[in-house]
Amino acid sequence: MFVSTAPADRVARIEALRQQRRAVILAHYYQEPEIQDLADVIGDSLELSRRAAATDAEVIVFCGVHFMAETAKILNPGRTVVLPDLAAGCSLADACPAEDFARFRALHPDHIVVSYINCSAAVKAQSDLICTSSNAVDLVRQLPADRPILFAPDQNLGRWVQRQSGRELTLWPGSCIVHETFSEEALLRLKHLHPDAEVIAHPECQPHLLDHADFIGSTSALLRHAASSSAATFLVLTEPGILHQMRRQVSGKTFHDVPGADGCSCNACPYMRLNTLEKLEHCLETLSPAIELDEDLRLRALAPIERMLAMSR
Ligand code: 13P
Ligand code: SF4
Repeated sequence: MFVSTAPADRVARIEALRQQRRAVILAHYYQEPEIQDLADVIGDSLELSRRAAATDAEVIVFCGVHFMAETAKILNPGRTVVLPDLAAGCSLADACPAEDFARFRALHPDHIVVSYINCSAAVKAQSDLICTSSNAVDLVRQLPADRPILFAPDQNLGRWVQRQSGRELTLWPGSCIVHETFSEEALLRLKHLHPDAEVIAHPECQPHLLDHADFIGSTSALLRHAASSSAATFLVLTEPGILHQMRRQVSGKTFHDVPGADGCSCNACPYMRLNTLEKLEHCLETLSPAIELDEDLRLRALAPIERMLAMSR
């Protein structure tokens, strides 16, 4: 039986507030285990966007990072969307300021603009199509073969999509600080210790690490693969929050995270980990901090997200 480690009185207060507020708690796999254990839905970016689009809850509590909560608000202008810590940003979104992106786009006026969902509403508003790590390859394959494509902001995901789809992409030079910390040396040491282990990786990792991977996919795809693979041991090249679900959902198998250089624990996303149970309780109590968006910007950012949802199989 699974037993949560969160303090029982705080969990009870969160439960009561969730009912009272008619709230749904959406959580990404990189959240602290105690937050994952309380969530109504745990998922990758695509699944959480779909659930945000379909919810009839009055309040959406988004336990993830700002671009995720912002996407939920773009899809639900009439609902209150709160994020436990408003400072929970994303290095990829930060790596692509809207004004710089507008100049980059202007240099490539004939390109279809595909942006990874890890970007601000202001960048989404300048995009033709949004993608996530779970649908990026499929969506790019659906684009007209005679049109050039600009892909932002993650160059590592972009290179992987390029390889998988065979399409040439003009890449914005952004990257995720977490997925860039994994040490190849540490991975090789782990492979030596566990020669039968499968290496499974998120496509935000750098190409030289992806070259070691037996399977590459979004967080949900990694979880599904861990369940269906015949391997008993996995070396996991993504944020270690996902190991909580792997250990819960896939019994009898062993999962190891891969540290950064010098064994540092910088493989934990410093933004995702800003959310705590205490802040979750506070935001249900006060309905703040809430995500607010200018209506014109929201409508411009909505169009490429709706296109993504319509094109995703
Ligand atoms: P997923 O959509 O695969 O969950 O990725 C989100 C993310 O931020 C990875 O760093
Ligand atoms: Fe952004 Fe990287 Fe954190 Fe994902 S892991 S939210 S891409 S900083």
